Amino acid sequence: MVLLDLADLPERSTITVDYDDPCAPRVAVVRDGERTVLSDATAVWWRRPQAPTLDSITDMDVLGFTHGEWFEALNGVYQLLGCPWLNDPIRNEIASRKTVQLQVAAELGLRVPRTLMTSDADAAVQFARREGFGNVIYKTFASTHQVWRETRLLRPEDLSMFDSLRYAPVIFQEHIPAVADVRVTVVGDRVFPLEIDARGSDYQVDFRVDMAHADTRAATLPDDVEKRLRRLMDRFELGYGAIDLRRTPDGDYVFLEINPAGEFLFAEYHGGFPVTDAVADWLCSPT
Ligand SMILES: Nc1ncnc2c1ncn2[C@@H]1O[C@H](COP(=O)(O)OP(=O)(O)O)[C@@H](O)[C@H]1O
Ligand SMILES: [Mg+2]
Repeated sequence: MVLLDLADLPERSTITVDYDDPCAPRVAVVRDGERTVLSDATAVWWRRPQAPTLDSITDMDVLGFTHGEWFEALNGVYQLLGCPWLNDPIRNEIASRKTVQLQVAAELGLRVPRTLMTSDADAAVQFARREGFGNVIYKTFASTHQVWRETRLLRPEDLSMFDSLRYAPVIFQEHIPAVADVRVTVVGDRVFPLEIDARGSDYQVDFRVDMAHADTRAATLPDDVEKRLRRLMDRFELGYGAIDLRRTPDGDYVFLEINPAGEFLFAEYHGGFPVTDAVADWLCSPT
């Protein structure tokens, strides 16, 4: 097994694609003098790769160019490794968009919240009025290392900020009251549903804020929900996915999102699930 950290590029490691046999190019990485032939890999675990470390380049044009060259080279390399990937980078990329996730989930018969994604203040106001204040949450498409924002309930005074929507679109959604959030970690054909009941925590709109005071338990999903989640995985051609649902007081399950590279150690810890083993098993005999 080899750990390939792309942030070791360009200083600590190098990468080479040799077309000596053009039908079977050989991809090799040298790190600290040690050479590994990546094209010999039998499976790849792909998880949130970092970009090459290009901090020493100060000219913005050169930086853009260099970044682009690495992007092209590395993305091409991924396609050359024909073994099974957990997950394949292109499929991972396609599946990571919340915009399309909701549509696919709805098509598969999963309930999704009424939603508006917009950079248009007027459209956002209309949505908020229609749903009613107190019944609308807003959230980000994604967070960065530097900026993380929890899901928030929309208040009437937030309308004064709507002009700045045009600088970054926001996801507005019907607030789904729930008895529990459900994080479903899927590895191949194994499904690990963890319930997180944040009703006793300090922040009930987003369980991640005060996880320490939330109740967690391993759960089971109704057959039809599980079947639809498996179809979702198939549709996006993912081997791994961490799905967020909410279980309502009526026993409905509402789909929020799928994280194709979502973390799983907290589900393993709180649910007692063998997720790490499942990932290792998959990589040893990919399904
Ligand atoms: N429509 C909603 N109704 C109620 N709670 C929500 C809603 N959307 C998100 N949340 C809460 O916020 C959390 C984070 O939202 P999520 O859609 O999973 O986005 P992300 O994890 O990418 O920030 C959810 O796990 C849930 O606790
Ligand atoms: Mg989430």
